Amino acid sequence: MTTPALQARDVTMRFGGLTAVRSVDLTVNTGEIVGLIGPNGAGKTTFFNCLTGLYVPTEGTVSYHDKVLPPKPHLVTKAGIARTFQNIRLFANMTVLENVLVGRHTRTKEGLWSALLRGPGFRKAEKASEERAMELLDFIGLAHKRDHLARNLPYGEQRKLEIARALASEPGLLLLDEPTAGMNPQETRATEELVFAIRDKGIAVLVIEHDMRFIFNLCDRVAVLVQGEKLIEGTSEVVQADERVVAAYLGEPFEGAPGDAEAAEVEAAEADAAAAGAAAPVTDAAPADAAETGTAPSTDGDKSAGTTKGEAQ
Ligand SMILES: Nc1ncnc2c1ncn2[C@@H]1O[C@H](COP(=O)(O)OP(=O)(O)OP(=O)(O)O)[C@@H](O)[C@H]1O
Ligand SMILES: [Mg+2]
Repeated sequence: MTTPALQARDVTMRFGGLTAVRSVDLTVNTGEIVGLIGPNGAGKTTFFNCLTGLYVPTEGTVSYHDKVLPPKPHLVTKAGIARTFQNIRLFANMTVLENVLVGRHTRTKEGLWSALLRGPGFRKAEKASEERAMELLDFIGLAHKRDHLARNLPYGEQRKLEIARALASEPGLLLLDEPTAGMNPQETRATEELVFAIRDKGIAVLVIEHDMRFIFNLCDRVAVLVQGEKLIEGTSEVVQADERVVAAYLGEPFEGAPGDAEAAEVEAAEADAAAAGAAAPVTDAAPADAAETGTAPSTDGDKSAGTTKGEAQ
């Protein structure tokens, strides 16, 4: 069951003096949904770009089913890896159906000239392609909008269409870069279901997201990138419980978030209450320590008392 699909080994990407990705190892097995999280600028998209041949990694290798991938996007797609982009890349003036058909071209034997000349081989292939594209549109729930221009779709549907276009290349591994960015909670839940359905079709998924609920609900394993390095990798439970992740990532987006003011007020009120009621009938060590600290200067000097207390707490 644990057959590796994607294996990134020691992948490093430098831009001049900046190391955006540093010696990252990551495996995605067939049948798995793996999450990649980390703060803004951690190197997640850069890592995706290294996996898909958009960037040639400064060091390291990327293999798919034990074959080293050449760093060329069309060859990576041909090998069986498809992706969506953080910034949606659809053909705005093409229809929904045409956008999916574009995604199929790596899988159709008919070349560009055949397409332009519209010979009989092309017509047959075109019909099969269109059927498959419609199946995919049905799968993501956009079949009824086949003739709409991509640019007229609401944002959430454009993201879905990107997924359909990626699926059109019949991948064995799908890379999703922030698939729920800009979506409302219902759309996010629907996308969660969609990713499960994709996995159930036998396609492995590697997904970048900032929405932690989405990631932890969905993923079999989660890897955390911080400043280009992999901090930890494990099940959702393990990653969620890791203090470094909380400090480096989960804590950060909420600084200054709504609720912080209230939290500060509560803390201040608690501090006031503690100061006023140090002698109250609380039998724990804390008030006693506070009393000790108050009397310490007369005898203890400044070295020992403070430090030992600090360490003990
Ligand atoms: N083409 C490039 N040239 C120079 N620096 C780059 C390039 N692409 C990315 N970087 C830098 O690499 C670092 C990682 O960026 P990246 O976009 O991979 O982060 P990210 O984890 O995807 O962030 P976000 O969550 O905001 O999308 C950043 O400091 C970024 O400025
Ligand atoms: Mg990114």
